[in-house]
Amino acid sequence: MSKNLLITGASSGIGKAVALEFAKRDGSKNHLILVARNQTKLELVAEEARKLGAEVTTLTADLGKTAEIAKVFTALEKNFPTLDLVFNNAGLGFVKESYMLGDDEVEQIIDVNVKGMILVGKKAAAIMVKQGHGHIIFTSSLAGYVLLPKWSVYCASKWGITAFANVLRQEVLKFGVKVTTVHPGPVKTEFFDSNKANVDLSASEKSMPAIPVGDVSAAIYGIAYTDKKRIFCPPSLSVAAEAFRLFPKFMEKMFAKLVK
Ligand SMILES: NC(=O)c1ccc[n+]([C@@H]2O[C@H](COP(=O)([O-])OP(=O)(O)OC[C@H]3O[C@@H](n4cnc5c(N)ncnc54)[C@H](OP(=O)(O)O)[C@@H]3O)[C@@H](O)[C@H]2O)c1
Repeated sequence: MSKNLLITGASSGIGKAVALEFAKRDGSKNHLILVARNQTKLELVAEEARKLGAEVTTLTADLGKTAEIAKVFTALEKNFPTLDLVFNNAGLGFVKESYMLGDDEVEQIIDVNVKGMILVGKKAAAIMVKQGHGHIIFTSSLAGYVLLPKWSVYCASKWGITAFANVLRQEVLKFGVKVTTVHPGPVKTEFFDSNKANVDLSASEKSMPAIPVGDVSAAIYGIAYTDKKRIFCPPSLSVAAEAFRLFPKFMEKMFAKLVK
């Protein structure tokens, strides 16, 4: 029987790459359930994944809205007997000083990156605890470990979701359910488009170059269904995260230099 994989934020970037990675590697062994707001972009990803052999269902939803998340789970419970893997990934960021952020921008980051991910995570966990297996993978960020000027609310969201995932892991372990957090540094995706986060990556390009999205999707495929607690992309960033914990003052200065 094929495995059912829910992937949020599947219309572009890391979510899209993960959908295509599972389609490419496993073909018809997976039924991919792809969620995002943009139906046209989701259908394009679905078409590509179907060509690679995967079965695909698309669900359009704004994951910043509680009622729309509930609808996604109603559809899941109605149509799929199991939920084997959830890539809880949809997210966004606006990058500017805290005092320059609009109230609506703060609200969007918190609604999608924190509230939305928590609701998806806990609803998926309820299904998986009942069925006695499953894996939930959360896209956090390097910003879930370090602090960067201009990224205050984004950092808060990613520290928050990392904390949630780490507690959830302890709660569901005894039911055979696994939880992993993924911590990428800069990745070449639409996240940095001028109509989205609008970040100039050139300041950090030398010390922390943006990696291709395929590196992240390959890493995520590699840890699916394992009990890996967290991964950094690239793996060398674990050193930066640990250094930040041990030498916060020094590392704060270093990271501040990376942000223009
Ligand atoms: N790129 C990086 O450097 C980087 C680094 C670390 C962590 N991350 C994290 O990686 C995740 C994916 O980002 P990405 O880089 O792939 O960016 P992206 O290309 O902009 O993709 C973001 C995805 O999230 C979806 N999304 C955003 N708001 C949504 C909402 N309200 N409801 C439903 N879906 C929503 C988007 O779909 P629609 O617009 O169609 O809704 C899109 O599919 C995010 O959690 C981000 O914080 C990214």
